[in-house]
Amino acid sequence: MKKIAVLTSGGDAPGMNAAVRAVVRTACENGMEVVGINRGFSGLINNEIIPMNIRSVSDIIHRGGTVLYSARCLEFKEEAGIQKAIQSCKNNGIEGIVVIGGDGSFRGARDLSLRGIPCVGVPGTIDNDIACSDYTIGYDTCLNTIMDMVDRVRDTTESHDRCSVIEVMGRKAGFLALNAGIAVGATTILVPEFDYDIERDVIERMRRTQKTGKRHFIIMVAEGIGGVEELARKIENDLKVESRAVILGHVQRGGAPTCKDRVVASQMGNRAVKLLQQGIGNRVVAMKQEKIIDLDIFEALCMTKSLDREIFDIAYEISI
Ligand code: F6P
Repeated sequence: MKKIAVLTSGGDAPGMNAAVRAVVRTACENGMEVVGINRGFSGLINNEIIPMNIRSVSDIIHRGGTVLYSARCLEFKEEAGIQKAIQSCKNNGIEGIVVIGGDGSFRGARDLSLRGIPCVGVPGTIDNDIACSDYTIGYDTCLNTIMDMVDRVRDTTESHDRCSVIEVMGRKAGFLALNAGIAVGATTILVPEFDYDIERDVIERMRRTQKTGKRHFIIMVAEGIGGVEELARKIENDLKVESRAVILGHVQRGGAPTCKDRVVASQMGNRAVKLLQQGIGNRVVAMKQEKIIDLDIFEALCMTKSLDREIFDIAYEISI
């Protein structure tokens, strides 16, 4: 391939810039022309395409967000939108695309690949919910951001003998809630993947902990469970512990990427271009047991990934 493109799509994630940088630099160093597509698939449809060179990605490795901007594109879900995107590739001489994003973005990459534009997906989402990969770019930064925020909340929670019911991102996935929960010593962690019972897992657990002398509590709740205001009110009523609901929100998606995210993003971006360079598309780059691998995009989209029950059980055993 002589000319490729790179785009970021879906929810942004810290480390996406490091991946874009790796894609652009690898392409340039291997004699390929590279363009950036702004605002994901929507920018492809609307021809928001910019030439890139090794200097256009200077000073971005340490920055959160994505310099290529991101979007969730409804038009691209329809055949007419996909056809516009294909036409735009043809008009711009784009022979292959590196798509950095989550599951939805991979489905877009698959749709383009199926219609003759080879794409390689790079997993970028704070949720870590891409089944084919042990790790997704942005997850480590996000976990550390949550940990830092909850440590701050803990200071004031402790000073006031309160309970803080904290909601973290993850509509369908509890990776953030579980791992951040264990890292901050949450008394209870509620995730969409595992059954829970508010009486047993929150109220009774807190009551038992109170008997051991504990006077302040952190309850970690995944976004997919929700209801943190109601839960805080219930805890106040049932246990007479003053409670506050804290929704961390989009602060979790921002900030400078950690070392891990910069390194993994650099490796994955590099691998994606090496595949396209050999004319190989319809692939997804992933991490398995700390190694960078690639696999068929269709196969990748059929996989499932489960939350580690062992970590969940450990959290329950020791956060008492
Ligand atoms: O997929 C990443 C994510 O941050 C989810 O954790 C969250 O549920 C969602 O995106 C929020 O999306 P938006 O920024 O569109 O509100």
